[in-house]
Amino acid sequence: MRIDVITIFPDYLNPLKLSLLGKAQEKSLVSIQTHDLRKFTSDNHKSVDDTPYGGGAGMVMSAVPWGEAIDSILQNETGTTDLVILTPAGRKFNQKMAQQFANSAHIIFACGRYEGIDSRVTYFYQNQPNVKVHEISIGDYVLGGGEVAAMVMIEAIARLIPGVIGNPQSLDEESHSINSTKANSAQNPDAEFTGLLEYPTFTKPSTWRGLTVPEVLLSGNHAQISKWRREQAERRTQQIERE
Ligand code: 6GU
Repeated sequence: MRIDVITIFPDYLNPLKLSLLGKAQEKSLVSIQTHDLRKFTSDNHKSVDDTPYGGGAGMVMSAVPWGEAIDSILQNETGTTDLVILTPAGRKFNQKMAQQFANSAHIIFACGRYEGIDSRVTYFYQNQPNVKVHEISIGDYVLGGGEVAAMVMIEAIARLIPGVIGNPQSLDEESHSINSTKANSAQNPDAEFTGLLEYPTFTKPSTWRGLTVPEVLLSGNHAQISKWRREQAERRTQQIERE
């Protein structure tokens, strides 16, 4: 998978070189490149924003450098590209979307700042045959820009790519994972969700600060353990839904 991130703060994305994502890049499972939007400006001030038509507070990012930056990336592309425009006004990101993006060959993340990007960038690329545009938000709160949201999405997507995670079985049991009995999870975007959060987990020592591990987990009875975990997962899920 190829990932391009366009931003006015390329250094903001430096953590993507670490840990899981760093190793995935070393193994050539993903290739992540950042691009400085200001390099695609043509005025002396390298300005990327202007006042909004119709008035109002704040600044809007100009379509001009965005078009140049996106075109320069698309230039070397023969297949389909997913263009993700990060905005608090977008569709809310979830695990199912992560699964779908994990099957993409090429994703461009456009990190907006200020009051967002001129909407014609979305309209223009929606009409390009080899581009699929997605306006996405990561949750119901407002960030200073799309950079952190892009990192959230990249981490969620990349760990679903085969080979990125050491033990792929762990993907089937985690919170929000797709129901492996209904459809063979990791690769199938149409698989159904269990909707369940993960059960509580414990490791040694068996007593810590007076707290003991639930007896059933020490029993070796795998049927009982599965039943307990299922019940706990359901309890946790209900609790959070009621909050
Ligand atoms: Cl994608 N961008 C910004 N600026 N704020 C957000 C967001 C994105 N998702 C949630 N809040």
